[in-house]
Amino acid sequence: MSTETTPPERLVKSKQRVADHGEVFTPSWLVNDMLDLVKPETERIDSRFLEPACGSGNFLVPILQRKLAAVQARHGRSDFEKRHYALFALMCVYGIELLADNAAECRENLLAVFTQFVGAEPSDVWARAASTVLAANIVQGDALQMTDATGAPITFPEWGYLGRGKYQRRDFGYSNLTERGSFQGTLFEAFEEHEIFVPSRTYPPMTVQELAA
Ligand SMILES: C[S@@+](CC[C@H](N)C(=O)[O-])C[C@H]1O[C@@H](n2cnc3c(N)ncnc32)[C@H](O)[C@@H]1O
Repeated sequence: MSTETTPPERLVKSKQRVADHGEVFTPSWLVNDMLDLVKPETERIDSRFLEPACGSGNFLVPILQRKLAAVQARHGRSDFEKRHYALFALMCVYGIELLADNAAECRENLLAVFTQFVGAEPSDVWARAASTVLAANIVQGDALQMTDATGAPITFPEWGYLGRGKYQRRDFGYSNLTERGSFQGTLFEAFEEHEIFVPSRTYPPMTVQELAA
């Protein structure tokens, strides 16, 4: 009979970090219970999730895993579609984290889930494209001040998958994005989004190779 047991999850890195930054990670059972409250959204490839204090990704990693399960179910028969939709799923996951080491860990953890799913080696085009996406989507910064580590206003890319291997990227200011909800139930609700929110930058459609370059 095996006496092996799963080691307990490490929820605290140090007492000092708890005192300085309120750094206590959420256990996976609680994360999954919370995600189940919005289950259909977590299982939708193109639903966008932003964790404004994402730590090393305790929420974002299972969100990506759920989205990838949806990719497998819907596009698993074609390698081309599966890989492109998997990258699109990753593009819909966003985080802000104050501490550099946590932000880096979060990117690494998400990258590992993605590369394992698509069967990519760390140096190949899919892994490099995913790293480009993660560098833009997981921001080291202060979610309350809405500034990045250099003190500049946080911007996020809004990604779209156009089909046939092409992605669209438009960048928006984070402060701009947080205002979207406040228009609900007001006169502005009658406007189309593009009439109120103007991207700070619009990119030409890009392939995976171009994202990786
Ligand atoms: C309670 S931990 C939660 C981490 C993760 N969300 C989880 O549930 O495992 C809070 C995290 O927020 C980060 N943090 C604290 N203040 C922040 C701020 N103003 N902006 C962004 N991140 C912040 C901390 O460094 C820490 O990693």
